[in-house]
Amino acid sequence: MESRNIKDYGIGVMDSGVGGLTVLKQLKTICPNEHYLYFGDTKNLPYGEKSKNELIKIAAKVFDFFQQQDVKAVVMACNTTSATVYDELKNDYDFKIYPIIQVVSKVITKDKSLCRIGVMATQATVKSGKYKTELQKYNPNLQVYEQACPLWVPVVEHKITNYDEKEVIESYLTNVLSFKPQKIILGCTHYPYLLNKLSKYADKNLFINPASIFAQYIKDDLQKHNLLSEKNEQHIEYYASSNPEEFKENAELFLKIETLPELIEL
Ligand code: DGL
Repeated sequence: MESRNIKDYGIGVMDSGVGGLTVLKQLKTICPNEHYLYFGDTKNLPYGEKSKNELIKIAAKVFDFFQQQDVKAVVMACNTTSATVYDELKNDYDFKIYPIIQVVSKVITKDKSLCRIGVMATQATVKSGKYKTELQKYNPNLQVYEQACPLWVPVVEHKITNYDEKEVIESYLTNVLSFKPQKIILGCTHYPYLLNKLSKYADKNLFINPASIFAQYIKDDLQKHNLLSEKNEQHIEYYASSNPEEFKENAELFLKIETLPELIEL
């Protein structure tokens, strides 16, 4: 019997909800021949308000699901889990794991002119101090200011529009801007959706949406390890742990999806 080539195995992409679609959107463009399995863990959203122990249990269930699906790689398109659980789970699985914070910090710090950087992220990511640790691993002189923005994920995921912009957007941003950063990393995959609002208060070019940097690194690494699929077709499956209808509707903020995600109760 002919055995399956590992190049043809799928790539799992995970996030708590639709935010990770910012990464999938880039990946599917630059790696067009892959089979993607996108998991939106909507049942456990928001991850940013959960403890490390809770997140380890949750992420392990998502990883177990991917393991059953025979994936060749998993993209942690979620800053919060990259910050809190990657180190705990990275040796427990056979597939390659790409954690967004670790990858993006490595790439961004190649620019040695950067000496002050702001990070806007979830409560759990900021609490972990992971961005600071990873960025300073490559450039110890880099000054890093991390700001938690706990209201931003609910605003995006529940499509809330009637909020007080001063309280929700401007207050967090003012703190970061007073640090005088050369760049601000949008350290949560949901945040690029707010870019137009943010650019009312600061130059749009100040913000880094890590999705394309992250996707490019993954492509290069898969290529380096001879893991890119050579099939001339793309296939995407979507899974959600609750309310697939709402996921499909919200997905449109980042990427139009044609099929209703399959409900997988973790
Ligand atoms: N979008 C995820 C991140 O990048 C998690 C957001 C959340 O569920 O709090 O951090």
